Amino acid sequence: MKKVLTIVSAILISCLLRAQDTKMNEYVSRLISQMTLDEKIGQLNLVTPGGAVTGSVVSKGVDDKIRQGLVGGLFGITGPDKVRQAQDIAVKNSRLHIPLIFGLDVIHGHRTMFPIPLGLSCTWDTLLIERAARIAAREASADGLAWAFSPMVDIARDPRWGRVSEGSGEDPYLGSVIAAAVVRGYQGKDLRNNETVMACVKHFALYGGAEAGREYNTVDMSRIKMMQYYLPPYKAAIDAGSGSIMSSFNEIDGIPATGNRWLLTDLLRKQWHFNGMVVSDYTSLNEMEAHGMGDLSAISALALHAGLDMDMVGEGFLTTLKNSLKQGKVTQQEIDQACRRILEAKYKLGLFSDPYNRMNADRAAKELLSGDNRKAARETAVRSLVLLKNDQQLLPLKKTGTIALVGPLANDQRNMLGTWSVAGDFTKSIPVMAGIKNVAHDIHIIYAKGANISDDSMLVKRTNTLGLEIETDSRSADAMVDEAIAAAKQADVVVAVLGEAADMSGESSSRSDISIPESQENLLKALVKTGKPIVLVLFNGRPLILKWENDHVGAILDAWFPGTEAGNAIADVLFGEYNPSGKLSMTFPLSQGQIPIYYNAKNTGRPYPGDGNTKFKSDYLDIPNEPLYPFGYGLSYTRFDYSPISLSTPDIAAGRPVTIKLTVTNTGQYDGEETAQLYIRDMVASVTQPVKELKKFQKVFVKKGESKEVSFTLTTEDLKYVNSDLKWVYDPGAFKIFVGGNSRDVVQTDLMGVMPVVPATKGSMQKGKN
Ligand code: NOJ
Repeated sequence: MKKVLTIVSAILISCLLRAQDTKMNEYVSRLISQMTLDEKIGQLNLVTPGGAVTGSVVSKGVDDKIRQGLVGGLFGITGPDKVRQAQDIAVKNSRLHIPLIFGLDVIHGHRTMFPIPLGLSCTWDTLLIERAARIAAREASADGLAWAFSPMVDIARDPRWGRVSEGSGEDPYLGSVIAAAVVRGYQGKDLRNNETVMACVKHFALYGGAEAGREYNTVDMSRIKMMQYYLPPYKAAIDAGSGSIMSSFNEIDGIPATGNRWLLTDLLRKQWHFNGMVVSDYTSLNEMEAHGMGDLSAISALALHAGLDMDMVGEGFLTTLKNSLKQGKVTQQEIDQACRRILEAKYKLGLFSDPYNRMNADRAAKELLSGDNRKAARETAVRSLVLLKNDQQLLPLKKTGTIALVGPLANDQRNMLGTWSVAGDFTKSIPVMAGIKNVAHDIHIIYAKGANISDDSMLVKRTNTLGLEIETDSRSADAMVDEAIAAAKQADVVVAVLGEAADMSGESSSRSDISIPESQENLLKALVKTGKPIVLVLFNGRPLILKWENDHVGAILDAWFPGTEAGNAIADVLFGEYNPSGKLSMTFPLSQGQIPIYYNAKNTGRPYPGDGNTKFKSDYLDIPNEPLYPFGYGLSYTRFDYSPISLSTPDIAAGRPVTIKLTVTNTGQYDGEETAQLYIRDMVASVTQPVKELKKFQKVFVKKGESKEVSFTLTTEDLKYVNSDLKWVYDPGAFKIFVGGNSRDVVQTDLMGVMPVVPATKGSMQKGKN
């Protein structure tokens, strides 16, 4: 009976959706039939009057263009009144009264800022991430916006690339489940609901593969690598219903993404059945000229033909398509198609029924930075913090005694939100010092700045382009260090709050040296010399090189950039109000020379066996192969032990899943949350497979002294890889299953993959028969 009801309701829903689509098609077709060519091309034009400028061009004459019907959407402004004013021009003064769509870089919160996405991903908590996106959507929509330029799902293996801060790290599976969660959070069940925003998954595609980690640099990779490791998160966002997608700056197979028909049409539309709209990145259309693809008219035609619908800021479409149509370089059908997709997005967002549906001053006054939203931000931030080291249980700290609170980020407000906090207000953020006072009222704090974030004038100048994130003290470096040492000497423990300024990561913030800046390293070295116990709290938008720090300080807590509630969240963890549970979503190299380094690497034909016999093995003469902290790593104040794995059956076949069980025991002194991670290795395949691949994970809360059973189900779908024909295939044979609290420290067992009808004999399990 239940099954019948499910089928009936599925049929009803699909009939309803079809009816809605038909209505939308009729509406949009009618509108298009009334539009002039200029108005159609106008819809393809996305402008910014400022507010989120990430290139050398800013739109001009915006109001006039809106009046003439030459603008389809606008980004960079926020607030119900401002947005209303712009919408008024479109709705009241343009010929066809077509509403604008308003977008913004809502990346990790709108007004209430959550941790930067890399930090969010370290929660490994998709419900929490979905809730953060939901709150961002509610705030953004009250503030007039209908469209968030997020999630950014670019897989990255090179921490020199500053934009790793905006993504979910290096793993395709974790990246995919997070991408889908963010889309669900933004879009809810129905975009007509005026508390939602349309997602824009970006940057399509492979932007995170920039050579040498240098921003906007060339990407070149095999199709297999794309398919298996880099593309899954975009696909997951599309499957979750993302209404739009942004093309990336980089080239793919020698053709810039914005003009790449294989990418935007063959893959995205034909294979993945995406039916939303494609927008370029900021002038990425025009930049095809610099890539060497022709003049503005040629590249605009190329982009339209490739499948681009909306042109961000550069106005290549606006200024050339009319002529190109006359010259036969583009077709009317191509222009109509792009225009239709933009109008459909507006229709889905309910903008034709009510162009002002997301400008709600009352809701904005009530909800933006509300107590509830801040509470959610704090709950999220505590879970994003990763405890990297904790010798002799230095943490949690006692709430009494004296601490020396030292470092340029210890009493800083401006940097707490991290990069891309366009609508965030740093004056509302909680610095670490205030957070400590809130959480540990009786503690005596001696504060000393100790150093500037950096003394490198070029780095300071370039970091400060968006605001005074690095303030240079009038005192000398020595005077500041001396003050910090004096503070340390009077204290029971030193809490050194060091790291990067907010925009030392993010867009256009690649670094060749990803250590803590020298001024702060000098401070830390001086503090270590005092012999006092040192807790290092780090702010960073990327994995850093921490070998020296790891060798010399007692405890290291990676805070990333936790957002509005930064100080409170950090204090919650420092003083044991919350037992840290964050796990790295990106490998921390031991040395810069290891980059790119990632856990799901190939074995090679000459793997180093770790026995000291290094000659003619894949290794370095001067450093080990292993990273400092592996993917999935993160300590707790307690300890979790993993029992051996038990399998429901020793073999797996299509249609015959296997259940994998084991027990996690909390053997320490605190209740705590653990993330059990399941990895596989396909031992023989027609295409070489990585030594480990994350396939599942599960969060479990275990009280001290207690145990919990963790259970995973694997199917042959989970064992598939991309073969040379670019097909996802499962082929039978030997697999290894690993489970653990990180990608390095695991328990393991063997699993045999078989064909369903063939008995599991040795001879029938030969692999690589594609
Ligand atoms: C350029 C960035 O690459 C992109 O992520 C962002 O959404 C746009 N600028 C708009 O601000």
